[in-house]
Amino acid sequence: MQDKFKSSTVYQIYIKSFCDSNGDGIGDINGIRSKLPYIKSLGVKYIWVTPFFCSPMADNGYDVSDYRNVNPMFGTMEDCEKMIAEADALGMGFMFDMVFNHTSDEHEWFKKALAGDPEYIDYYIFRDNPPEWTSIFGGSAWKFVPSLGKSYLHLFDPKQPDLNWDNPKVREELKDVVRFWKAKGVKGFRFDVLNRISKPADLESLPSGNGGAFCKDGPHVHEYIQELVRDTGIGDMITVGEMASTTLEQCIRYSSPESHELSMCFNFHHLKVDYKDGDKWTLMPPDLKELRRIFSEWQEGMSKAGSWQALFWCNHDQPRVVSRFGDEVKYWKESAKMLATFIHFLRGTPYIYQGEELGMTNAHFNSISQYQDVEALNYYEIMRDKGVSEFDALKVLASKSRDNGRTPMQWNSGHGAGFTDGESWLGIPMNYTRINVETEEHDPDSILKYYRHLVKLRKEYRVIADGDVKFLDTGNDNVIAYERTSGTERLVVICNFSGNDEKVTGIDIKGRVLIGNYSGTHRMMKPYEVLAILQA
Ligand code: GLC
Ligand code: CA
Repeated sequence: MQDKFKSSTVYQIYIKSFCDSNGDGIGDINGIRSKLPYIKSLGVKYIWVTPFFCSPMADNGYDVSDYRNVNPMFGTMEDCEKMIAEADALGMGFMFDMVFNHTSDEHEWFKKALAGDPEYIDYYIFRDNPPEWTSIFGGSAWKFVPSLGKSYLHLFDPKQPDLNWDNPKVREELKDVVRFWKAKGVKGFRFDVLNRISKPADLESLPSGNGGAFCKDGPHVHEYIQELVRDTGIGDMITVGEMASTTLEQCIRYSSPESHELSMCFNFHHLKVDYKDGDKWTLMPPDLKELRRIFSEWQEGMSKAGSWQALFWCNHDQPRVVSRFGDEVKYWKESAKMLATFIHFLRGTPYIYQGEELGMTNAHFNSISQYQDVEALNYYEIMRDKGVSEFDALKVLASKSRDNGRTPMQWNSGHGAGFTDGESWLGIPMNYTRINVETEEHDPDSILKYYRHLVKLRKEYRVIADGDVKFLDTGNDNVIAYERTSGTERLVVICNFSGNDEKVTGIDIKGRVLIGNYSGTHRMMKPYEVLAILQA
């Protein structure tokens, strides 16, 4: 079942920031429709679009109040149906984003629960004496409802109450949502924080702590995913689960063909190598030794088990990779291309997040008033309460906030970066005059053209799509290298993650350069150089 995805690449759209068709400053479905030819030009097969369902937008659509209707801010059902059909005509398929761990507190189920209807109280997780847990967005994970005399669990914002998957009725409701969108012609699904759906038994007896840490890969999670996939008949479609703080063993199960669960998983360990002592809200340069260790463990482990990984640096929850692991000033192009190659030539399915293909950077906001994300705003307060100065707290946000990845897509150097004719909902980085689609279409050496090339190479070379993977020793912590092998074909990929010339030992670089970001091969790796060498 996985075979058909192996040569494909996925493009992720954050709808609110992709393209605004009506000048209200908010991206929308008709905006996506107008850019389908652009997406097609990248060579991708699937498009994951973040939630555009009815929502009060407390978490930008990850708080759904009606799973079967389109939020009017993004368009109509008719627009949505046209979008699906038009992508289909271009040979691409949409993956819709199912937020099933929680609903909005404005969902009718939750409203009925709050009104005291016992049937719906059991759709959520209400407790009399809950343990003291903190939520992932900061603050308590429980909210007390005086009229019921109970508190409900919200692993995220209080406006995102967690669903009770142990209730078979809840599982049936959610299956119906999947069937609904499947019938509309959607080709796959992304499932939001899916490994948090099964909560531990006997919640009230658990100690205090971080709620998220208690609620991951829970007792019935595999059973529930298998049931969902089986009863909705999506086993042949492309499906990806977002798995938070998970383990290799769990992800092998989630994505192994024998388990009949998902095509692949997102996991995030590689995006925590710049968290000091595991804390996101700190500043630390990436630990490259750890980055290599994580990738080699997961790539080789998944490969051995026949399971499949989703490959990515960026999404709407992450800062921009060129600002994070590259050098957006001195080696902008070089580092963006190196990072892209590293991901695209690994074993798994690569995801390109809108604007990543342009080398879009972090936002460089310098005032708290520029931030919009609930998580950033909460943690700013938390840091300030702890005595962190305004200057330092803003510095942390400038590097860590999710808003860095959510600034509008930079289409051209005109008004609103070509994203909107009006006033954009979120600030646009000043560099849009230089970093944008139009400029990069005219530059033969652009990051955009390089991404297109990577997507094409995956379709052309079996060794990229399906080869085995093994990490190599380079004798240098700043240079990470791996090989892919398939039959007699061998691809060696060497990546310099530093801004200096670096020496590499013990790697055979004979062969043909398939792609690279400098010309020729040399004894030293240049700053952020990547070399992919094909040996047959
Ligand atoms: C996922 C989404 C994120 C959202 C969270 C809660 O991590 O990607 O944007 O805030 O789930 O739904
Ligand atoms: Ca709009």
